[in-house]
Parts: sequence; structure tokens; C-alpha cells
Amino acid sequence: MCILFSFLYFMIKQRAINILKKNWKDGFTVPSKNLYPYQWKWDSGFIAIGLAHFDITKAKKEISTLLDAQWENGFIPHIIFHNKSNTYFPGSDFHHSELHPKASKKYKSTGMTQPPVLGFVLKELYRIAKDKQDILEFIKNKINQVFINHEYFYNNRDPHNEGLIYIYHNWESGTDNSPIWDDIFATMDSPIFSFERRDTDLIDPSQRPSKREYDHYLHLIEIAKKYNYNDEKIIEFSPFLVQDPLFNSMLIKSNQSLIDLYTLIGNNQEKINQLKKWQENSIKTFNAKLYNEELKAYVHYDLRNDKQLAYISSSSFSPIFAGIPNQERAQSLVNTMLEKFGGENNYLCASFDPTHKKYNPVKYWRGPVWINLNWMLYNGLLQYGFDELANRIKKDSIDLVEKVGFYEYFDPRKEIYKEDSKGYGGNNFSWTAALIIDLLNEELK
Ligand code: GLC
Repeated sequence: MCILFSFLYFMIKQRAINILKKNWKDGFTVPSKNLYPYQWKWDSGFIAIGLAHFDITKAKKEISTLLDAQWENGFIPHIIFHNKSNTYFPGSDFHHSELHPKASKKYKSTGMTQPPVLGFVLKELYRIAKDKQDILEFIKNKINQVFINHEYFYNNRDPHNEGLIYIYHNWESGTDNSPIWDDIFATMDSPIFSFERRDTDLIDPSQRPSKREYDHYLHLIEIAKKYNYNDEKIIEFSPFLVQDPLFNSMLIKSNQSLIDLYTLIGNNQEKINQLKKWQENSIKTFNAKLYNEELKAYVHYDLRNDKQLAYISSSSFSPIFAGIPNQERAQSLVNTMLEKFGGENNYLCASFDPTHKKYNPVKYWRGPVWINLNWMLYNGLLQYGFDELANRIKKDSIDLVEKVGFYEYFDPRKEIYKEDSKGYGGNNFSWTAALIIDLLNEELK
């Protein structure tokens, strides 16, 4: 590689490391100062991957702190409120996780979760760490907690034993205000809440969810609270019950990582057998139920109203990361991505179908590019041998960061970028920094 590029990449990596150093809070990393001032579950997983490249002790600590907040029933919450902050709403005094009898007694948290990244994150830590014996010791100490978390999902979040887990809140998906949820919100009669939002003091409201959407978000939490976050009651009464392809892909990817790691550790045949059973059922149902032949993409399934939600989003391609489609179907997904998302004038990969009327390239999960999805797609596409597309996604991610900085999300339209352009949402965003470090790793070897 030419010296100029090496130097450029080296500088980008140094900037990313500095962001992660600044966002470290004595035991965990905040996703973004002020905007997200606590520990978030799937953020922590991605962040640990970046930390592992320059400070493995912190990477291990990030995961240990998260797992320390696991509930007695194996559940891991989406936000852990380690500290006080007046820059975020809704905080612990709205969520009241203690309503659930098995909630952590040590930490306040939300009563909802986020995509199950920890299985594959442990495997990534093993890949990245230089001292394999030391990291394997760490994994040995933590892996059963992740297994128990998967057990929680299969025992409590899969009412028909299909191998597909439901989410009961859009925040559980990680893709907060995706247009996918609009149809479900339209079936809900949410009250008008009065509350003081903090996010729109910090970020241009055109880049954030609307007030009405927040009413729905709070209403769903109120329903769950009314039943003390009891899963059986939520299944019965929540208007929002969705089988999400992104969430389930991450579970399946993590199942496979746990199988690989238990095999490496040895003497865990029973757990491996159980994981294989879950895995077989999950992959079979996933392919049968979540694929939409007409759209040539995986879609979400509305379990409450028993129908597919026929929209294409970046989540539609995430099964590639988990090895779910066969080669032929993976090729169809690639065609769909190139046709609808991949025009020459677009950076990949928009979070929502750019050819759809609900697409909004500025607004959060309704169109902008997110680096965590790009990281998954890059790694998944390589596994299927789609190297060219994989490398385009990697290059787009690095270009965006180089152009405007380590933002939370980015406009996919190439033509809007000028000299003084900015990204969207929070700046100095931790998982953008962390995953760019990982993406640059090969470049800097
Ligand atoms: C936003 C994102 C979510 C993320 C959180 C913290 O809510 O939509 O996926 O975990 O911010 O970064």
C-alpha cells in the first residue's frame, strides 16, 4: 500500500483510539458523551471489539461490567444506569427495572434488551487478542453467562417454539425508529405523554424520532411495567411483538460462536448439543418464515398480527453475517442490495430501502448509513465470497469517517458532501470508532 494511505489510515486509527479513551468511564464506555451517558448492551459488544486492538484489559472489563448486570433469569438489559445524568430521557426512574422479581439488585437498568451480540463478540476477542491463553481463560469464566442468556431467550421469548425470538419494543431491535414499526404504531392508541426530551436539545430534531413516536415508545414501556416486565403477560398484551431478522441473526451468529468456543474449551458436549438443537430449529424457521420471495429479501414478522412486514432495510441483509441463507439466496440478497441500495451515487448501506417513499436519508434509522451494520455486512459478504461488494462497503465506511468524522450515522447520498459537511446524530460515537479500528486492521498490517 502507498505510504500516503498507510499514514492516513494510521491517523484515523489514532483518532478512533482517542475517542474510545475519552468515552471510557471507569469500567465501561458511553456510546456518546451527553447523548447516551450510560452503558448500552450491543454498543458495549462492538466497543469491546475495538478496544481489544489496543487495550485488551479494557475490552474484558467492558464485557465483565455488562455481564455483572445480568438478571437472575439470564436476561441482559439494554441500558445499565451506572451513574446519574440529566442529559438522557427516559432514565431509571421511568423504567423501574426493579418491578421484575429477578432484576439485578446491584444495578438499575431498563426492562428490555438489545440484540444478542455477546457470543460472537467473545469469539472476536479470541481472534484479536495476542495472548490466546489469557483470553481463553477470560472466555471460560464468562461463556456460561452468555449461554444462560440464550437459554432465557429460547425459554421465554419463543412462544411457539419456532426458534425465533420476539422483541416487544422497537428499542430492543437497536434500529429505533425504522419505518418498519410504523404499521404497528398505527394499530396502537397511545396516550399523549408530557415529558421533557433531552436528545433534541443536543441534536437537530430532523435527525431524531418525532414526539408522537416517543409516545408510542413510552406507552409500550408502560404496558410492560403494568405487568412487572413479565414475559408471559407481555406475550399476551403487548401490541408490539415482532420477530426481527437482525436480532435473530445475531442470536444465530452468537449460537455458532458459542459452539466454536465450547469446542475449543472442551468438556462441554451437553451445551454444544443444546446449542446445535436451537441452531437447527432457528435457521430452518428463519428461512421459511422471514424470507419474502417477492422482495427477494428477509423481512420482519409481526407476531401479534400474524403477518410479514414487507419492507427492505439493512436488517434484511444481516442474515448474511450469520450464514443463514444458502449461496443462491445470498446471491439474490446481493442483487437486491445492489439494485435498490447500491447505485453509484450512494454510499452503502442505507438503513432503509432508498427506492421506498418512506426513505429519509437524514433521519436516524429511516435511511442513514450505520457503521455497525456495515461491519456485519462486510464480514458476512466475505464469508460468501462476495469480496468486491464487501470491500466496497468497507471503503465506503472508511471514506465517510475520513470525510466528516466519527458520527453516529451518515447520509448515503454522495452528492450532498461538501468540504464542511458533517455526519448526523452524536459525534465521537464509540462504536463507529471501535469498528473502524477493526476494519482498518488489515489495512495497517
Ligand atoms: C440509539 C441506537 C441504538 C444504540 C443507542 C446507543 O438508540 O438506535 O441502537 O444502542 O443509540 O448508542
